Formats: sequence, structure tokens, C-alpha cells
Amino acid sequence: MLVVAGSASQKLAQRVAKELGCGLVTPELKRFPDEEFYVRIPEELKGESVAVIQSTCRPQNDNFMELFLLLDAAKDLGAERVAAVVPYLGYARQDKRFEPGEAVSVRTIRKLLEGAGADELITVDVHEDEIMGIFEIQAKSLSAMPLIGEFLTPLNLKNPVLLGPDQGAIRHAERASKSFEADCDYLVKKRETPTKVRVEPKELEVGGRDVVILDDIISTGGTVVEAIKVLREQGARKIYAGCTHAVLAGDALKKIREAGAEDVFATDTIESEISKVSVAPLIADALR
Ligand code: R5P
Repeated sequence: MLVVAGSASQKLAQRVAKELGCGLVTPELKRFPDEEFYVRIPEELKGESVAVIQSTCRPQNDNFMELFLLLDAAKDLGAERVAAVVPYLGYARQDKRFEPGEAVSVRTIRKLLEGAGADELITVDVHEDEIMGIFEIQAKSLSAMPLIGEFLTPLNLKNPVLLGPDQGAIRHAERASKSFEADCDYLVKKRETPTKVRVEPKELEVGGRDVVILDDIISTGGTVVEAIKVLREQGARKIYAGCTHAVLAGDALKKIREAGAEDVFATDTIESEISKVSVAPLIADALR
């Protein structure tokens, strides 16, 4: 097995290669004067099983293009099997046609990945698990939440609650609770009167308890900031916010900290200042 490190996932690729005890290849990547990419994989790949690791976070289009070039080159250079390891799969949120005439981006990405020669796709906490069903190649979305659960253990939280900011996100809380004992819940909108809506945890009282908000993505931070507001009103003690993918658009982090989060953390699917949990063991296991 050889790990090829895309430019968006260099540190993670190093960690995965270390976990696997296998070779790490850093491709040569340059720009032509007109800004097109030049990619070269300086390694004999014939007959090898190759994992190209490249997250498709910002700049998404460049990172995708680099990924397609690397996959195609690896296949063309004789690799026996090429796994596309895309820890953060960009364009996955547009998974249906919400308005007439829209492009269903994740379907386009499927065609391009398969067309570039990927034999397998491995990603982490894809926006909706069902998306993996559209791929014709073997495609897996791994959950980083049990690793996040392990990260929470030494924090010694008081009577902790793991909370999804909406019903869809409770799966993240439940998966984290496999390695960290805590109650799980999610926020719901409850209509008090025909004109008044209240947001609160579905089942649990959070007063005096430590709460960890868990989601797949923190992008603008709007979802987490709203959740923090509700939890503070409900008397939560310390509030933490965690996610798999730190997309962090604009001043998301500042907004979340100002809202009163005790800590904000994420994995290294996207390398950021809040990457405190590595998904390398998870990816290495899947590649094994
Ligand atoms: C939405 O379905 C996702 O799970 C996240 O809740 C969302 O992407 C977070 O976005 P933002 O940080 O912009 O509120």
C-alpha cells in the first residue's frame, strides 16, 4: 500500500501512512503560467494498491481538480487498485434538486470520481449517509464520532448531554456515546401557541449539566450559535461545540466563542486551528 498525499491533506496523509506503516508519496504540484495544474507522482506505482488522500474543502474546485488528476495518473501509472480517500467530500450537501433546474452536485462528483479511475471511495461523516448509495464503486462513509467520544472522556464533564442541533444530527450524538457515556438528545421547535415557537431539547433537562453540541459540519456557525443561545437560556453549565468538518466560513469561530462556547473542536478531515481529533486511525482501519 502506498499513500499519496494531496495538498489539502498532507498532515492527515502522513498520519495515515504512519498508522499503516507504509510508504508516503508527496506528488509534485505546480501551476502553469495560466494557472492550470501540473501534477506528477514521482514513484513507481505499477501493481501497487494506492490510496490518494485529498480533502475537498476550500478551495473546493482546485482540490477536486487535483484529486481527479492524481487518481487518473495513479491508475494510468499501473496502480492495481486506487482508493479515493476524501475525508471531507465537498459538494455533497446539494444531494437533490431543491428547486427546478438545479444541478445535483453530488451526482456530478460521483461521475467525475468514478470516471477518474477511483475503485473505491472512503469519506468521513458524509452529510447524509444515503448519499453513499448513489456510487457504483464501493463507497463508505466512516463516522468520526466514536473518536470524538474518546476525546471527550478526559474532560470530566458534569452529567453530560450530547446534543444534535436538529433531529438529523442525533445520530452523531448517539455514535459518540458509543465511546463516551452520556445522555443523547436533539433540539426541537415546540409550538407553544399558534404564534409562539420555543426551541428546546426534545426530552432532557439540561439545567446544571455540561452539554456538547455535535454536528457533521460547522460552516457559518449559525446553527451552533442558535443552539448555544437556547442551552444558556435553559441553564446548561458548560457548553462545548464539536464537529467532524471545520468548514468555518467567515468569522464562524469568533461567533461561536462569543456566544459562550467553553471549547470548539473538530477532526483533521479539514486541517484547522480547532483540529483536535485525528481520523487517521479510522481511515487506516478502512484501508486495511
Ligand atoms: C446541516 O444540515 C448540517 O448538518 C449543519 O448543521 C450545517 O451545515 C451547519 O451550518 P452552519 O454552521 O452554517 O449553521
